[in-house]
Amino acid sequence: MAGTPEKDGIVKFMPATGGLRGSLAVPADKSISHRAAMIAAICGSPVKIRDFLRAADTMSTLRAIQACGVRVEEGGAGSGLVVHGAGLRGLKPPAGVIDIGNSGTSIRLLPGIFSGQVGTFTLDGDESIRRRPMDRIVMPLLEMGVAIEAREGRFAPLTVEGGCVHGYHYEMPVASAQVKSAVLLAGLYADGPVEVVEPAVCRDHTEIMLAHSGARIEKEGTLTRIFPATDLELGEVDIPGDFSSAAFFLVAATVIPGSEVTLTGVGVNPTRTGLLDIMLQMGADIKIENQRFAGGEPVADLVVRSAALKGIEVDADISGRAIDELPLVALLGAFAQGGTVVRGAAELKVKESDRIDGLVASMTAGGVDIEVRDDGFSVQGGGVTGGRFESRGDHRMAMLGAIAGAASRDGVEVAGFDCVEVSFPNFLEVMESLGGSVQ
Ligand code: S3P
Repeated sequence: MAGTPEKDGIVKFMPATGGLRGSLAVPADKSISHRAAMIAAICGSPVKIRDFLRAADTMSTLRAIQACGVRVEEGGAGSGLVVHGAGLRGLKPPAGVIDIGNSGTSIRLLPGIFSGQVGTFTLDGDESIRRRPMDRIVMPLLEMGVAIEAREGRFAPLTVEGGCVHGYHYEMPVASAQVKSAVLLAGLYADGPVEVVEPAVCRDHTEIMLAHSGARIEKEGTLTRIFPATDLELGEVDIPGDFSSAAFFLVAATVIPGSEVTLTGVGVNPTRTGLLDIMLQMGADIKIENQRFAGGEPVADLVVRSAALKGIEVDADISGRAIDELPLVALLGAFAQGGTVVRGAAELKVKESDRIDGLVASMTAGGVDIEVRDDGFSVQGGGVTGGRFESRGDHRMAMLGAIAGAASRDGVEVAGFDCVEVSFPNFLEVMESLGGSVQ
């Protein structure tokens, strides 16, 4: 049946010859859903979360807080939740290990919160999580006085023994919102102010939501300072649509002739929308309409029509604001006139999979002229012929294959498509509702 992945997880995406057309509300933002659940868990009174993302990663965070004694109730409009927080220091250590599955945001942010609790908390995840670097949070937390241990000092599982947290000034060596967030969350429990300096802009959802819940936070250029807290109250929070999920359809509608798609209620926080800047520079036709705010986050409707593109050079300062969307830039480059170069993309190697290696393997199999460079890749225009993309268990690489297929000449098979449940469980349904053809 169309729209249902086969047993072995292979799905074939055929050329969307008539273009993609229609309107859709993309799933709620994954990063903001994680933060809403975690911050609600340490609030002093119940928090109503509207439109919480029901996907594998964010359900991992929800299960983690429940394992720590937080009661979560269904409720509120649009897949809403009510989280009955335990207060700033009220989380209870669970009996066993907390399994966060594939979710990097869960395993890197929760230790910040656990550092201020009483007892021992152990976090572990799947094979991909066990390969990803955790020293980036372990090192600053240790320097703040937190008792945290990792396998070989740098891999999951992680064990945090809550206790003392000291004031700290940290200059992050990598631009990582997850590291910044872990340090800021631990800062809620510190005995003095905690400062984090980021080497390049990375998403600021944690700061926005903590400020919304009453924490004292200051920003000075690239420095964020948090002061110790005594109580947090979030009340109600709306989760915008995920720009990173919208990105697949922004790109698909741009490169597939005859397309016109409206994406409603998309989060357009400028720390996330580097892809918009890249696409506009390449000549995309995207209108930003109906701009508003939800829970302190900017939101808009995006109207995208197909357009002819030209190749560009994407520098490190934009790459950081488009980190999860950079594989899609390779696809844009494949449909642009001339060459496209992406720099400052080394972090792609330590995502859910090595996305540079996977991108080059899949795009090459699809007939695209693409090459690895020192800290990124370069691609030549010429289109996608077709072939087979391997997801390697990585949700964003699976969806890249889907879009490549819809834009290709002969169609693309994606092996291991099921992992889209990590962030975009109804992807196939959405693709078909816009006119995409799935076998
Ligand atoms: C995320 C931050 C980014 C991003 C990831 C989600 C977050 O990772 O790639 O998908 O929710 O904070 P880094 O912080 O490692 O850059």
